[in-house]
Amino acid sequence: MRPELAALFEAARAVQARAHAPYSRFRVGAAIRAASGAIHVGCNVENAAYPVGACAEAGAISAMVAAGDRQIAAVLVYSEGAEPCTPCGACRQRLREFAAAAVPVHAAGPEGLRASHTLGELLPHAFGPDHLA
Ligand code: THU
Repeated sequence: MRPELAALFEAARAVQARAHAPYSRFRVGAAIRAASGAIHVGCNVENAAYPVGACAEAGAISAMVAAGDRQIAAVLVYSEGAEPCTPCGACRQRLREFAAAAVPVHAAGPEGLRASHTLGELLPHAFGPDHLA
C-alpha cells in the first residue's frame, strides 16, 4: 500500500476501535483526506433510539468541516464485516457535498484494502452543490 493510502488506512483502523456500536456490533471507522493534506476521522455512534445513530462517514465529515477543511481528496472506510463496507446511500450524498465525482472511496478490512471506487461510481448522476449555483 502506498504511504498516503497507508496513513488513511491506519487512521480509519484506529478510530474504528472507538465506535459505539452496541446494537449492531458492526463497528466502522472512516478517514477522510482533505485537499489540505489533513486527515479527519469518524466512527459510527449508535443510539438506543436506533434511527438516531450516526455513520462513521458522517462523523468524519463533521470533524473535517469543524477543522476548517471543505474539500475531500480521498475516503477510506474500515470495517471487519465479511463484505467491503462502502458508504450507505445517505453518506454517499453527504460525501458528494464536499467531494468531486473522481474522488476515490476505498473500503478496507483487517487484511488491507478490499475495494476502491470513485464517488461517481457509487453515486452516479448525483445532485450536488452545482445544481444550486
Ligand atoms: N455504518 C457506517 O457507519 N458506515 C457505513 O458505511 C455503513 C454502516 C454503520 C451504521 C450502523 O451503526 C452500523 O454500521 C450498521 O449498519
